[in-house]
Amino acid sequence: MWITSSNVIISVTMLMMLPFMLVAACPTSYYGPYCWIDFSCNNGSVVEVLIYDCDESDLKNVTFSSFPSLKRLTIDLSHLEGNFLHQIGLLQNLTYLSLRGNYHKGTFPVSFTNLTRLQHLDLSDYNFNDTFLASFANLTQLEYIYLSRNNFSGTLPLSFTNLTRLEYLDLSNNYFNGAFPVSFTNLTRLEQLYISHNAFSGTFPLSFVNLTQLQYVNISHNSGTFPVSFTNLAQLEYLHLSNNYFNGAFPVSFTNLTQLKYLDLSRNNFNGTFPLSFPNITRLVHLDLSTNYLSGTIPSELWNLKNLQFLDLSQNLLSGPIPPSFGSMINLAYLDLSTNQLNGSIPKELRNLMYLKTLNLGVNHFHGQVPSVLGLLTQLKFLNLAMNNIIGPIPLELAYMNNLEHLDLNDNLLTGKSHPEFGKLSRLYYLDFSSNCLSGNVYFQNPCNLRHLDLSENNLIGIPSLTFCNDLLNLDLSHNNFRLEGFNLSVFPKLTYFNPRSSDLNRNESETSLKILLEYLFPITVGFCFLVLGGYVLYRRKKATTEKSHPEIKKHGNVYSILNYDGKVAYEDFINATEDFDLKYCIGTGGYGSVYEAKLPDGKTFALKKLHRFEAKQPAFDKSFKNEIQVLTNLRHKNIVKLYGFCLHEKCNFLVYEYMEKGSLFCALSDSDFSIMLDWKTRVNIIKQVAHALAYMHHDYSPPIIHRDISSNNIFLNSEMEGFVADFGVAKVLDPDSSNQTGVVGTLGYIAPELAYSITVTEKCDVYSFGVLALETIGGKHPGDLLMSLNSSNRHGVMLESILDKRIPYPNDRLIEKEILRVYEVALTCILTNPKSRPTMRLISQELCK
Ligand SMILES: *[C@@H]1O[C@H](CO)[C@@H](O)[C@H](O)[C@H]1NC(C)=O
Ligand SMILES: *[C@@H]1O[C@H](CO)[C@@H](O)[C@H](O)[C@H]1NC(C)=O
Ligand SMILES: *[C@@H]1O[C@H](CO)[C@@H](O)[C@H](O)[C@H]1NC(C)=O
Ligand SMILES: *[C@@H]1O[C@H](CO)[C@@H](O)[C@H](O)[C@H]1NC(C)=O
Ligand SMILES: *[C@@H]1O[C@H](CO)[C@@H](O)[C@H](O)[C@H]1NC(C)=O
Ligand SMILES: *[C@@H]1O[C@H](CO)[C@@H](O)[C@H](O)[C@H]1NC(C)=O
Ligand SMILES: *[C@@H]1O[C@H](CO)[C@@H](O)[C@H](O)[C@H]1NC(C)=O
Ligand SMILES: *[C@@H]1O[C@H](CO)[C@@H](O)[C@H](O)[C@H]1NC(C)=O
Repeated sequence: MWITSSNVIISVTMLMMLPFMLVAACPTSYYGPYCWIDFSCNNGSVVEVLIYDCDESDLKNVTFSSFPSLKRLTIDLSHLEGNFLHQIGLLQNLTYLSLRGNYHKGTFPVSFTNLTRLQHLDLSDYNFNDTFLASFANLTQLEYIYLSRNNFSGTLPLSFTNLTRLEYLDLSNNYFNGAFPVSFTNLTRLEQLYISHNAFSGTFPLSFVNLTQLQYVNISHNSGTFPVSFTNLAQLEYLHLSNNYFNGAFPVSFTNLTQLKYLDLSRNNFNGTFPLSFPNITRLVHLDLSTNYLSGTIPSELWNLKNLQFLDLSQNLLSGPIPPSFGSMINLAYLDLSTNQLNGSIPKELRNLMYLKTLNLGVNHFHGQVPSVLGLLTQLKFLNLAMNNIIGPIPLELAYMNNLEHLDLNDNLLTGKSHPEFGKLSRLYYLDFSSNCLSGNVYFQNPCNLRHLDLSENNLIGIPSLTFCNDLLNLDLSHNNFRLEGFNLSVFPKLTYFNPRSSDLNRNESETSLKILLEYLFPITVGFCFLVLGGYVLYRRKKATTEKSHPEIKKHGNVYSILNYDGKVAYEDFINATEDFDLKYCIGTGGYGSVYEAKLPDGKTFALKKLHRFEAKQPAFDKSFKNEIQVLTNLRHKNIVKLYGFCLHEKCNFLVYEYMEKGSLFCALSDSDFSIMLDWKTRVNIIKQVAHALAYMHHDYSPPIIHRDISSNNIFLNSEMEGFVADFGVAKVLDPDSSNQTGVVGTLGYIAPELAYSITVTEKCDVYSFGVLALETIGGKHPGDLLMSLNSSNRHGVMLESILDKRIPYPNDRLIEKEILRVYEVALTCILTNPKSRPTMRLISQELCK
């Protein structure tokens, strides 16, 4: 027996006075402001040492050779060198060793050869990248191994074979790969196994069969195929297998897992019909089968799972109705059946799910009306019925669900009034009624917490009363019959997206709306050409309010040179080169900032994109700026404008770009002299270069990136007239784990038509914009109304010759003519209304280079 450390803790204040020293009997513990050293003794010999947040100099008097009886050693969050840690290998009686969160560099300093009594080993959060695991062979007493969050790589050594006492094994968050070792067969006492976030692959071995004590298993985020042998694991309570490549039908072997409470098989490739054996796992609390290829109907026996609190079947191919028996799963708090092919009406029985907080039935084929009894679900925070075929009025009862935060009914066939009562839902921050046939007025009362309000494509009237909704970020009122004359946008200081177009504005923009847009200059919605980077100044904005800013920033303090540019260039060089952003160096304004030309003393020229001061204060602009940095920093492609550096500070926000001598494609095409220099070959090449850059972003970069604002304003030309993609202010790194739903951004005239009714951005939106861009490049101007006729079924009636830029002669070279024809044909497929019919950028880029 040894005494636990708590028995010897002496008053901290007293100890702070004491110098650190070793006493023959038991060394005095030490509690410094950072470093803690705590000794516990039994019969005069040290049996436990706890070292916390110390470095080498704090420990110069500690020699482990003086503590031969040491049983427990914890050295957490310290910064120690190898020669100190090396001593640990001598502590033959050690049973407990924790070196958690040490950031020692280099090879692992401890030899385990003599630590044969070790039972508990914690090396988590270390930066090991070693192969010392081979020496585990002797540690036959080990019961607990925790190696999570290191950089271990390679296959697991066979040495696990002897660890027959192991109960807990956590290898998660490393880079282990290869097949899972068969040597696990002997670990028959194992209760918890965590190997998530590695790269284990292959079929999991039959060896699980004998691990009958397993209770917790986490294999998520690997590359495995299905473990066939869960049958015997009758003790299993927790099984997490998501994000693997498991395929085929669900194995029947789940039937015997009667203790199972948590089952996550999401994001695999399971197919076949819904597993009938599931209803027998009656203890289940959490069931996630989302993002697989399950088909067939949902069995009504599922109601057996009366303990279920979480059920996610979204993103499968399930069809048929929701079984009314779902109403019996009365403990459900989370129900997501979205993105399937379910039909029938929404069962009234759902009213019984009194604890429901999330109900997502979006993107299915449900019809019938919204049952008014849904209003009884008073706990509900999230309700999504979007993209179904639901008809009739919105039940007034929904407007009394006081906990509602997110309500999405978009793209249905709802009629009747948008009840003014919705305006009283003070917690609501997301409301989407778009693409229905709703009528009446809209008012939101105080308090209003709306951040996203989309009422577009309805028949709403009057002046929308939104005075209290000061937090609005996205506001879409388009395609209604609103009266917006007196509509005062200054009450929405955070607004980043605003679309006021009324129904008849598609063809003929009314002066009022245009005035609103001009006045507030929402750059992401409006495709004004402001030359952004380049020498050709089309429009120089002399804004009276642009006063000189005087950022007080320490020398070199805030400039981070990234990519390959040499770090010698500093903040001052750019400030001097632009005389502190003097207007005379401004070469354009657009997007979120002004662009300045900075010619450095060494002759190199850069483009500096600087945020307007008033914009920089707004979180949304700041966010866009950081987005751009993040995306551009990682992109390396010949035809993507290079980002050399940036300066991030509350008073100084600028990006340092490669300078593009010939300015934007838009301006090049608009200028009658310049456009003649853009001969057919140059134009075809520019289109190809843009296609390559986009194919790279969509298909070669992980996670894929959607630019979301491809237009001729964002394509730039260098001195060789090569095309470069720029301006990632609105690009978003596509997170594979999140749905790509976001407010509509882009430039009018290039926005894919589906974004009018859907907020799901896919890479096909870029493909559409690319098609418009290609037509614009060969036509010399934006195709405008021609898009409609090109897109209709008799588009082949539109002759190539009629759309080509007349300012340069028709190509007389047969090869060039063929290439232009190919561009034209590819562009026509890009602008198809159905996003699924459009080709991918990869295909386009290959097609154009045939
Ligand atoms: C290690 O532990 C054993 C058994 O508990 C004991 O006999 C032995 O003296 C200890 N060794 C040292 C160096 O204290
Ligand atoms: C292990 O113990 C033996 C015998 O006490 C000793 O000779 C050897 O050096 C030790 N090995 C390590 C790595 O400490
Ligand atoms: C499981 O254990 C039994 C008996 O202990 C043994 O015969 C069998 O080979 C083991 N199965 C596997 C797959 O290791
Ligand atoms: C299993 O792994 C997933 C993914 O890493 C993680 O989110 C989850 O918390 C893990 N579960 C347990 C019990 O560790
Ligand atoms: C379930 O367990 C029973 C008895 O324990 C066994 O006979 C049966 O084969 C097991 N079922 C499956 C699918 O393994
Ligand atoms: C489920 O349990 C019932 C009764 O306990 C049994 O009759 C049925 O065969 C089981 N179903 C499956 C698929 O194991
Ligand atoms: C629902 O879908 C199923 C399968 O797709 C189909 O057989 C059935 O006719 C549909 N029912 C209704 C009411 O549309
Ligand atoms: C718009 O609202 C702001 C702030 O509420 C107010 O200062 C301004 O006078 C209003 N403008 C008009 C034209 O009503």
